[in-house]
Amino acid sequence: MRTPVIAGNWKLYKKSAEAVNLVSELIPLVKQTTGVEIIVAPVFTVLGKVRDVIAGTNVMLAAQDCFWEEEGAYTGEVSPGMLCDTGCSHVIIGHSERRQYFGETDTTVNRKIKAALAAGLTVLFCIGETLAERESGNTFKVLDSQVCGGLGDIPMAELSKIIIAYEPVWAIGTGKTATNEQAQEAHAHIRALIARLYGRDEAEAIRILYGGSVKPENIKGLMAQPDIDGALVGGASLNAPSFAAIANYKL
Ligand code: PGA
Repeated sequence: MRTPVIAGNWKLYKKSAEAVNLVSELIPLVKQTTGVEIIVAPVFTVLGKVRDVIAGTNVMLAAQDCFWEEEGAYTGEVSPGMLCDTGCSHVIIGHSERRQYFGETDTTVNRKIKAALAAGLTVLFCIGETLAERESGNTFKVLDSQVCGGLGDIPMAELSKIIIAYEPVWAIGTGKTATNEQAQEAHAHIRALIARLYGRDEAEAIRILYGGSVKPENIKGLMAQPDIDGALVGGASLNAPSFAAIANYKL
């Protein structure tokens, strides 16, 4: 049985007071939620503040990115060990906005994943095709190369610390969700690829989240799909009642 994961990616929103308010409002709304792992990913500068508020609750902390070196002359970067030191248990790596605007490639994603795993973090590893890639019939090819590239040289023993997030780029922040069938088809494809790379047991165990315009209104249909194990939520995670409604999709 795969435990579902509902993760909120706050992107470049919420200064400290707003972040504290958002997570403080969220905690009571999800405190009865069982059988779902709940994660929030604020900006680096408020991680410590959010950590203090979620202490002792069922909400976990993720960063939105990390560097691949632990320390050194790398101005502006933040290392996986520093994220652990700040209370993070998880880190998002390879989000499409980082691939699109910050030159992230499968190679840098792979380096970051390895470094994050070495520091003991659980990785939310993002993949997904653009609209042009989907329309030209290349969705599966793109997903295959992103999965193989991102997971290159990562041994089977580490796979339990990886959660895949399938986020079609055309569905992110657009209000256009993939249909349940489109999402399920992609998830099943990714799981079959993991089975080829690591074996059936690993493929059965790995969580694959869907991301892209997830809202309280569409979460139930997505979660009813056999290969969808949760959601990576952007816009709807910036409002506590709507993120809580997504986390409480079973109610
Ligand atoms: P969205 O973002 O829910 O606002 O579409 C999802 C994401 O980028 O992770």
